[in-house]
Amino acid sequence: MTVIATSSSLGLAAKLSRLLSRDLLVAEERVFPDGEKYLRIPRKLEGDVVLVHSLHQPQDERFVQLLLAVDAVKGAGATRLAVVVPYFAYARQDKRFLEGEPVSVGTLLKAVEAAGADALVVVDIHKPSSLDEWLTIPHRNVLPIKELVGYFRGKLLDPVVLAPDKGALHRAQLAAQLLGAECDYLEKSRDRVTGEVRIAPKNVNVSGRDVLFVDDIISTGGTLAAAAKEVLTLGARRVYAACTHALLVSGALDKLYAAGVEEVVATDTVPSPVSKVSVAESVAEAAREVLS
Ligand code: R5P
Repeated sequence: MTVIATSSSLGLAAKLSRLLSRDLLVAEERVFPDGEKYLRIPRKLEGDVVLVHSLHQPQDERFVQLLLAVDAVKGAGATRLAVVVPYFAYARQDKRFLEGEPVSVGTLLKAVEAAGADALVVVDIHKPSSLDEWLTIPHRNVLPIKELVGYFRGKLLDPVVLAPDKGALHRAQLAAQLLGAECDYLEKSRDRVTGEVRIAPKNVNVSGRDVLFVDDIISTGGTLAAAAKEVLTLGARRVYAACTHALLVSGALDKLYAAGVEEVVATDTVPSPVSKVSVAESVAEAAREVLS
């Protein structure tokens, strides 16, 4: 088996190659003077290949590179190609919220399959059922909660795991189960008399306790900064934030620390200063499964 890395995920690809095979190959990448992308696999391939390419910023360019890489790997002789996309961009647009919109996640998934991928592994895609909906090739969605929780084990006092909204509850529930902690989500409610909007945990009292927020993405940090402020107002002792994909745009970390968050922890699906845990082992297992 050969593992192929692009510049989008060199670190993770190197870790994967130590787990899957000793054969790590780095794709050659260049940009033509007019901005078009060039990519080459520098030698002939045979057997199973795992291509690792993440779709963090600049997402559009990286997506074109992904399609080029899939074609290049198949053209270089790979028998079967499992594509690992640690962060799958455009996944939040998973339906036509307004008439006339695309289902972006479907558009991208179909293109990856059409380019020649034989299997796909992603990490914590926004809506896992998108994979079943749009792909016919074998696929896996790796949920790295064990890894994120492992970082916090033994560090939290009387912890409560919170999801910033009901949609993110499944991740928080899994984390709470692994930590042996209580779990809840934040709910927005409006006071019928004053009209004031209140955001608070639905059922659990956070006063004097450590709160661990778990979400899939930190982009601007706005969601978790607002959530942290709310629970600190309610008397939480310390607030921590864990996420899978640290996109961290527009000073997100500053915003979170300014809101009172003690520490932010993310995985290495997107290289970042807070990517403190690796998804390599779980992704390697998923890649073995889809190629078995
Ligand atoms: C939303 O659906 C996602 O699960 C995240 O909560 C969201 O993308 C976070 O974005 P931001 O950090 O910009 O608030």
